[in-house]
Amino acid sequence: MQQEVIEAFAAQVLNDVAIAYSGVLVNIGHKLGLYRAMAGQGPLTSEQVAERSGVRERYVREWLNNQRAGGYLHYDPALRAYTLPDEHAYVLVDTESPTFLAPAFDGASSIWLDEDKAIDAIKSGQGMPWSAHHHRLFHATEALFRNGYRDHLVGSWIPAIEGMDAKLRAGGKVADVGCGHGASSILMAKAYPAATIVGIDNHGPSLDIARQRARDAGVSANLTFEQADARSYTTADCDLICFMDALHDMGDPHLAASHAYSALAEDGALLLVEPFANDDVEDNVGPVARLFYAASLTMCTANALCDGDHALGAQAGPAATSEVLRRASFTRIRLACQTPMNIVYEVRR
Ligand SMILES: C[S@@+](CC[C@H](N)C(=O)[O-])C[C@H]1O[C@@H](n2cnc3c(N)ncnc32)[C@H](O)[C@@H]1O
Repeated sequence: MQQEVIEAFAAQVLNDVAIAYSGVLVNIGHKLGLYRAMAGQGPLTSEQVAERSGVRERYVREWLNNQRAGGYLHYDPALRAYTLPDEHAYVLVDTESPTFLAPAFDGASSIWLDEDKAIDAIKSGQGMPWSAHHHRLFHATEALFRNGYRDHLVGSWIPAIEGMDAKLRAGGKVADVGCGHGASSILMAKAYPAATIVGIDNHGPSLDIARQRARDAGVSANLTFEQADARSYTTADCDLICFMDALHDMGDPHLAASHAYSALAEDGALLLVEPFANDDVEDNVGPVARLFYAASLTMCTANALCDGDHALGAQAGPAATSEVLRRASFTRIRLACQTPMNIVYEVRR
């Protein structure tokens, strides 16, 4: 054994432990408004942060020092003052920013809260349904994915599907399969008021929230929801069927793709949005792949194994994903766009 390898690896694991402990402090900063109290304010002492946030100073000081130790805040020893840089506030405070990441920690916390159930499922080899997770997961998924959808779905992903933007501006029907809290369905209903949008999911509590979100957004007139399995919904004759970060969650995903094949109008298309991944496992490294593999084990693969034998996993890559689509009889599969988080496919008969 090489001592320096042991030391380097122990340092890496210790860093991960520090991150795991500190993730809770990001949630605390987000939920108690500590980041908000500091955003745009320049240097603040712990007393000033306490006064602005209404949180007791002794707690605030400990939180500030953790955040400073992790590089989230800058510190001026002469002033005993802490600064949240504007660029960091953009990531931690600005809910409209494409890089708003604070909610991601709620996804991580749901995995910890569900750890016993996950271990039972893994030991038995059985699945664990999406509905068995702590509700934090559903909110974190919505908050995390909404940023990318808001930035890309209507502006670039739908226009990348040949002729689709013009078709939906004139009318048309869209099914958003595995819509969760409906973030993508609402964006489409707003952008295409002449089109009919149907959000489909088998998780009733998520659809209750989606319906409320649709009412709040004023789009209930052209957006409805159907609680159904991806293999048996009744919505048909669709010009566009979207799977937004959802196909890989479905067991035997070629069956969901087959059902979509039969629910498409003659010249309809699938917009398939999947987590970014390369084909070969050795190329799926770094924080995005690591995060997706963790989610895949505990959420996506676990849900898929409830419904079938074939679980695609959240890091399947284009070759395995295309294979599923070809099994469902689709012949034209095109990589339309990609971002650091997603791959977007245009799929046609
Ligand atoms: C990762 S979430 C994505 C939710 C949403 N598209 C978003 O991006 O926020 C996957 C969704 O697929 C749904 N789902 C999983 N398996 C399903 C199935 N067999 N039929 C219908 N919905 C399913 C889950 O209930 C969950 O809402």
